[in-house]
Amino acid sequence: MADTTPFLVIAIDGGAASGKSSTSRALSARFNLMHVDTGSFYRAITFKLLEAGLAPTDEAGVQAALPRLALGTRVDGRTAKMEIAGWTPGEEIRSAQVNENVSRFAAIPAVRKFLLEYQRGQAAVARAHRFAGLVMEGRDIGSVIFPDADLRFFLEASPEARAGRRAAEGQVDQIHERDKLDSTRKTAPLVCPAGAIAIDSTHLSLEQVVGKASELIRAKGLRD
Ligand code: CDP
Repeated sequence: MADTTPFLVIAIDGGAASGKSSTSRALSARFNLMHVDTGSFYRAITFKLLEAGLAPTDEAGVQAALPRLALGTRVDGRTAKMEIAGWTPGEEIRSAQVNENVSRFAAIPAVRKFLLEYQRGQAAVARAHRFAGLVMEGRDIGSVIFPDADLRFFLEASPEARAGRRAAEGQVDQIHERDKLDSTRKTAPLVCPAGAIAIDSTHLSLEQVVGKASELIRAKGLRD
């Protein structure tokens, strides 16, 4: 009998520390979806550009440096990891210096263009590895990368709740500044796209958020 199980593309967008990563990881485990954290891609690129001595104000320099970054993907468990010329980014991409600069590099149109096809190409990686679909988290997944995704979620939480979550992770982060830069940039700003399902997690536990999303995923034909 032919396998009629659909391949699902699920987009999860939201501001800093809105719960995207925890929710995506839980959904990935529950439904065997490949997990793609596009924030880690912007962070890895930021790390490499800083290492090359470039500042986010130097758009021409950044544009010239991008083609030298040979991007690859390694699937580690259920997570797609970016490789840059054989280097797999680790905890160094969560440093205070990367937190401080990532939104500035991410606002550069050439950087976003550089990552666009790479991100779309993750669907083929997920199919090749026989996942039931992919869950991709970021800022512009439902608006720009996969506007036709089977499900598009937009996670929200109060600034206090988000700052508390990041502090609990022991991280120095400019949540407010990054959100402001991400929401006001010209190219692919952080917005809740029309038709996306907004979930406010301020007063919800992770289990409750995952439960809401899971119901909709099951309704699309996937089994957990
Ligand atoms: O974990 P957190 O939500 O704080 O951030 P992240 O998802 O690791 O993303 C880091 C930064 O990358 C964001 O503040 C954005 O500036 C940028 N980003 C983006 O512009 N577009 C995406 N699809 C994902 C991240």
